[in-house]
Amino acid sequence: MPQVKEITAGSLDTKEFIREKTSEISAMVGQGVAINALSGGVDSALVTMLGYKALGERLKTYFVDNGIMREGEAQQIVSVFKKLGVNVEIIDAQDEFFNALKGIEEPEAKREAITQTFYKKVFGNLVKKSGAKYLLQGTILTDIDETVAGIKRQHNVFEQLGIDPQEAFGYKILEPLVQLRKDGVRKVAEDLGLPALIFKRMPFPGPALAARVIGEATRERICLVRKATAILEQELTAVKAFQYMAILHNDRVTGMRDNKREFGQQIEVRCWDSVDARRASPTRLDFAILEKLADRILAEVDGVVSVTYNIASKPPSTMEAI
Ligand code: XMP
Repeated sequence: MPQVKEITAGSLDTKEFIREKTSEISAMVGQGVAINALSGGVDSALVTMLGYKALGERLKTYFVDNGIMREGEAQQIVSVFKKLGVNVEIIDAQDEFFNALKGIEEPEAKREAITQTFYKKVFGNLVKKSGAKYLLQGTILTDIDETVAGIKRQHNVFEQLGIDPQEAFGYKILEPLVQLRKDGVRKVAEDLGLPALIFKRMPFPGPALAARVIGEATRERICLVRKATAILEQELTAVKAFQYMAILHNDRVTGMRDNKREFGQQIEVRCWDSVDARRASPTRLDFAILEKLADRILAEVDGVVSVTYNIASKPPSTMEAI
């Protein structure tokens, strides 16, 4: 397995990187068609722009609506890219994902179910429909590190696990960002003209809100964590942090509402300071912010009776819950 040569953000020449990667993509795809999935995160957004620069209309970009994204995410991203001249087609794959996640509680099994649904089912169909032979995707070095170390099976890592995508799924995968970490990706994205909304966008994991539901990711439980996430993102907008998230716990606790016992849900809040996601520490949030956040989650998200703030660092924690 070839060793990936890291390009640190400090040594990165963004112009040179853009030139090199667009010509590599052009050379690989030739006169053919490639597809990519845009989630709205900075990695997939950068890949979309590099691919579009290299291939123009021969790159087909899709937003896969897997049912586990955040509130309003599909429409927001499609409209941002429309302004940049890139057409994004929304693919409704909610049923496929919820069927695949049914009954699964174990974290790595959930990740695997999402990976298989994305790559075999959804992209398999899109490849057939579009006639593409290549899938462009935004794997970065941190994804590979953690997968190879056996910490988390990142949804988008194959070669390093000895999986040949051509054999497993019937198409080749190109990964132009694999030498970069998040800070480098943001630099290139800014240089390529992506709006600040995108290049400063907080990371969001491939397994999406399913990474933030401990236990089974049902439609109802995803809906609950989605509401808590929306509140948290509104309340913490002004906070300078690498990433923040709401997590739904699997076990319930005794609470009380209107003088009645309520055996209710628990939401855990995490907010991280980090440079490149390899190490992270909890942001020292003002207590007033935490209180306001808890008040809103308890009042606006049905069934929640407990809100906690995680004060562990990575390692030994990881940033996402599963
Ligand atoms: P962890 O939880 O491993 O997260 O400390 C480190 C960073 O990676 C993101 N993350 C993922 N990104 N696919 C991704 O593209 C994944 O499967 C995945 N899992 C975690 C996480 O949000 C954090 O920024």
